[in-house]
Amino acid sequence: MVGNMHVSPVAGALGAEITGVDLNQVSEQVIKDIRSALLQHGVIFFRDQDLTPESQTAFARRFGPLNRHPYVTPMDGHPDVFLIVKEPEDKHHFGNSWHTDLAYAEHPAMATMLYGLEVPDAGGDTMFLSQATAYEALSDGMKSILSDVGVIYTNANSYGKGSQRFTDGVAKAMKVSQAATNEVTHPIVRTHPETGRKGLYLSDLHFVRFADMTPKESRPLFDYLVAHATRPEFTCRFQWRNGSVAMWDNRCTMHYAISDFPNARRIMQRVTIEGDRPV
Ligand code: SIN
Repeated sequence: MVGNMHVSPVAGALGAEITGVDLNQVSEQVIKDIRSALLQHGVIFFRDQDLTPESQTAFARRFGPLNRHPYVTPMDGHPDVFLIVKEPEDKHHFGNSWHTDLAYAEHPAMATMLYGLEVPDAGGDTMFLSQATAYEALSDGMKSILSDVGVIYTNANSYGKGSQRFTDGVAKAMKVSQAATNEVTHPIVRTHPETGRKGLYLSDLHFVRFADMTPKESRPLFDYLVAHATRPEFTCRFQWRNGSVAMWDNRCTMHYAISDFPNARRIMQRVTIEGDRPV
């Protein structure tokens, strides 16, 4: 307990719910305490918040400069905020596979803050996993094999010409632009710049292959690592209510938006904080 703020872990590997904080009124000390909770737990949750696009960006900016999404159209008048919209008739929804945000960028996002504006009565939860706990559970032999391996990620799987988003006309409610392919190489094991903890840097949605290996050689090892990291022991799951907030550290987690609410609407307001190059 710090002042009125209380941090309760929600699972063994990651995730904590924070109570006693109104995100519209936070002192410098509370920002420091929230940052430490984020570093310790990987993802933090708040309930019953009342955020406008302005107040969400004002809060998020206290953690660093904001990222403007390269392909998703922002809210009118709010270039750093976009809505994740799944209408009842949409077949797919944004983020419905394991990934870490903007892994295809040279400087992927440090953290993402999602605010639930309109969520289904049931379904539409988000899952998270700890890439650090997953890494620590690997054998010394596997850690040594991975120690100098680069992984190539691309924007093409989600925003390129062949991506399901465009070929199947899915997620129609969101304005997303097609992009020229951009590939980047990151280490498959990264060191968290603030905690110093090592973790896997997996992003299944964005994977192409390992550097200096063919796609066929790469796939079995990558699939093994994803199967390992997605073991229930390394995850937690957040059930949304209107006014809930999740803030996750993209440097040490992956997340998955569960698409199990056909015929229902779900609207989330997202702000993302800039990160540094993984090392
Ligand atoms: C995302 O991947 O940013 C979206 C997560 C969600 O909507 O639950």
